[in-house]
Amino acid sequence: MDGIAELRAKYLAEVGAAGDPDALESVRLSALGKKGEIALKLRELGRMDPEERKTAGPALNRLKDEIDAALRARKTALEDAALDERLKGEWLDITLPARPRPRGSIHPVSQVMEECAAIFADMGFRVAEGPQVETDWYNFDALNIAPEHPARQEHDTFFLHRDPGDNRPPHVLRTHTSPVQIRALQAQGAPIRVIAPGRVYRMDMDQTHTPMFHQIEGLAIDRDITMANLKWCLEEFFSAYFGTKVRTRFRASHFPFTEPSAEVDIQCSWVGGQLKVGEGDGWMEVLGSGMVHPHVLRSAGVDPDQWQGFAFGMGIDRMAMLKYGIPDLRAFFESDLRWLRHYGFSALDMPSLHAG
Ligand code: PHE
Repeated sequence: MDGIAELRAKYLAEVGAAGDPDALESVRLSALGKKGEIALKLRELGRMDPEERKTAGPALNRLKDEIDAALRARKTALEDAALDERLKGEWLDITLPARPRPRGSIHPVSQVMEECAAIFADMGFRVAEGPQVETDWYNFDALNIAPEHPARQEHDTFFLHRDPGDNRPPHVLRTHTSPVQIRALQAQGAPIRVIAPGRVYRMDMDQTHTPMFHQIEGLAIDRDITMANLKWCLEEFFSAYFGTKVRTRFRASHFPFTEPSAEVDIQCSWVGGQLKVGEGDGWMEVLGSGMVHPHVLRSAGVDPDQWQGFAFGMGIDRMAMLKYGIPDLRAFFESDLRWLRHYGFSALDMPSLHAG
């Protein structure tokens, strides 16, 4: 068949010369389109004699395939070139600092809980938890606080509602983290070393009190744990927490769940209205503690003839105020964004024993 070589040369040249997708498309139409030159040639096959058709048919089909392949290759090449061109102008400087985006912050109380957990973990204490809505047994009875004991009133307890006629004692919002002592002992038995950070509730509201606040409970029970271990543990803790050697003073006190009991002060100074922990000859009360009462061990299923140890309970909100110079307790729980941004911590500021 005549003309195939010319057609081939013509269209391959046109494909090569097409400078953009539109030009390429019109080459495609005039070559391979329904009314394109090759289609017309294919139509002529019908008029040929069989011998001629035998060679012309395959030759035309090969030409069709060849031009089709050339069109595709050219299309890819044009697209690559367009992308290269775009990338030349549109480069990205990945060394630029990211745009600042508003981010949440870690509340000082959460941060301090993490700091405490890290310090106590280093002394072998794990974190235990208990519910904030407690039964009166866990919050009081199991801790050797009898029903008529004044501590039940002293704690200004929030009681939960019971239906009229339901005479079971009402649940309470836990007034301290001490019920977690019982729960942890029941779950694990002795020996044990746990701390229990969490929320507690008392009906109290003034300059220095909020109805919800935070405590950390500590509990260490083994064969021969004494008050000396307690004192070492606490001094070790305060020194790590404040980043300076902190001495403690134990004063005799009374809690139904410890015997003997001690209130613990940490050493501090007030110079020009400025409070400094770990220096001077002032003392500030920070926690209650003592040797766990045998009744408490027994109600948690632990034999007091075999096991003994200490417990302590410390307010953490004040620990945060002391370390980070936060003046007002009530602001902790007002969710004021300006306060949170000022006193909050970055999520990346992970407490560890080695953090500054
Ligand atoms: N639960 C006591 C309080 O809330 C603190 C405390 C805990 C005292 C453990 C002794 C032992 O005041």
